[in-house]
Amino acid sequence: MARRQLIAGNWKMNGLQAARGEARALVERLGGRAPDDADVLICPPATLLADLARDLAGSGVAAGGQDCHAAPSGAHTGDISAEMLADAGAAYVVVGHSERRALGETDALIRAKGEAAIRAGLIPVMCVGETEQERDAGRAEAVVTGQINGSLPEGGFAAGLVIAYEPVWAIGTGRTPTTADIAAMHAAIRATLAQQAGQAGGDGTRILYGGSVKPGNAAEILAIADVDGALVGGASLKASDFHAIIAARPAP
Ligand code: PGA
Repeated sequence: MARRQLIAGNWKMNGLQAARGEARALVERLGGRAPDDADVLICPPATLLADLARDLAGSGVAAGGQDCHAAPSGAHTGDISAEMLADAGAAYVVVGHSERRALGETDALIRAKGEAAIRAGLIPVMCVGETEQERDAGRAEAVVTGQINGSLPEGGFAAGLVIAYEPVWAIGTGRTPTTADIAAMHAAIRATLAQQAGQAGGDGTRILYGGSVKPGNAAEILAIADVDGALVGGASLKASDFHAIIAARPAP
């Protein structure tokens, strides 16, 4: 089944006002518009979201949040709700990134955040991935499928939920799993999704790979069966690198 690829950039806690220039430079490199056959997303720090969403308006490049609170509003000092992200111009929000799971976020909390995203009209990009220790112990697939089963938001399939497989040991390290390992994990994730949502739900859900995706390895990774795009950290900060990754998509 042909799924539209999504190339998503996660700026993490990087970027002051000047970084908006990289997003504008990306749109320029794209010739003014995102490609017709793929989705492009930038998730800047929350402080830049509203400005960036305005900068990107009309370009087809979407803006997104990096996290959200599960509640729509209330006494949660320092937090940002999914509704606030939507109000600032976000179309997507990342939930369950491993850097947040490492701070103690549970599957149940990530599920609630995913449901908050859907409530606010955002597409959740739900991250899963094993640590190096878990992979070495032969538990990678069990950990990842367990995270999916534990954190799948209600209504996710209808809302266009995106899964991002990001092995923790590959994030920011320059190391990536083998092509065969990525293919095997993505197939296992798709099988888990099909168990939850039936064949059509499994087939229709995009599964991104994330973890040290760079211009030099993007073509190989994006061509792997069941890889429907990438979640890119470091290499999304520079327009030239991020554009090269977008351009590395396999021909339709
Ligand atoms: P990286 O980060 O591309 O810098 O490895 C990926 C991510 O954490 O989403």
